[in-house]
Amino acid sequence: MSLVGKVAVVTGGGSGIGRGCAVRLAKDGATVAVWDLNGEGAQGTVDLIVANGGKAIAQVVDCAKTAPIKEGLDRVHAELGPVSILVNNAGMTGFDLFQTITEDHWDRMMTVNLKGPFLVTQAILPDMRAAKWGRIVNITSSSIQTGAPGMAHYVASKGGLMGFSKALAIELAEEGITVNMVPPGFIRTPMLEASPVDVDAYAQTMPMKRPGTVEELAAAVAYLASEDAGYVTGQTISVNGGRYLGSA
Ligand SMILES: NC(=O)c1ccc[n+]([C@@H]2O[C@H](COP(=O)([O-])OP(=O)(O)OC[C@H]3O[C@@H](n4cnc5c(N)ncnc54)[C@H](O)[C@@H]3O)[C@@H](O)[C@H]2O)c1
Repeated sequence: MSLVGKVAVVTGGGSGIGRGCAVRLAKDGATVAVWDLNGEGAQGTVDLIVANGGKAIAQVVDCAKTAPIKEGLDRVHAELGPVSILVNNAGMTGFDLFQTITEDHWDRMMTVNLKGPFLVTQAILPDMRAAKWGRIVNITSSSIQTGAPGMAHYVASKGGLMGFSKALAIELAEEGITVNMVPPGFIRTPMLEASPVDVDAYAQTMPMKRPGTVEELAAAVAYLASEDAGYVTGQTISVNGGRYLGSA
């Protein structure tokens, strides 16, 4: 699945799943712009890529704000060229019983997890339209397949991202640009480790009795970003160790 000659932007690429995706896309030959609020994290990802012989740049970008996205993209254009692969991965989580969710927290969740992908996609789409080729992969969540207690704000934001992905997939279908989703289900990352869940104990309730790795998640993203996936759009590849069989 060669991505040589492609330029990818991975949002939230400074940690966990985003780092795994950036490293994998670079291994497949793409040049990667690693966007994150956390500059050290983004640079750490770039260091890994460069150590493997790949090419990447680290950028501090708040992926939920218009001006930093524009600035970030201007630098990508100047140093790497037009973007043909976008992984909308940056996200935040939260664990709050419904009655305790504040309006501010609700708004922040929607801004980072839903408005962010909208803003980044709208900024980058002209590159893909000009090339008549593009791959957009949105990292949703297995929680939208099941619901999750204490996460109404988070699940609503990721459910919105699913609706966004399906609508955009149809709108862009004739233009050589695909839009697909990967909902992670229990992938060991800093976000999962910081959650109130006991990761190893909970894993015992799952069919494979272990959490997934970022490399396993990134493999699905790499497929959806590849030429091979050209006839796949509006779809979901669930990377969750065999949970939620039968749900969409
Ligand atoms: N780990 C899992 O099992 C799991 C499950 C379901 C969904 N997800 C989703 O996968 C994605 C990655 O999660 P992760 O587990 O790797 O988390 P993580 O916390 O390890 O990484 C998230 C990264 O996103 C960055 N980020 C957050 N807000 C940002 C913003 N506004 N602009 C730029 N960067 C920003 C953070 O700085 C961080 O580096 C998230 O969207 C998350 O909701 C993860």
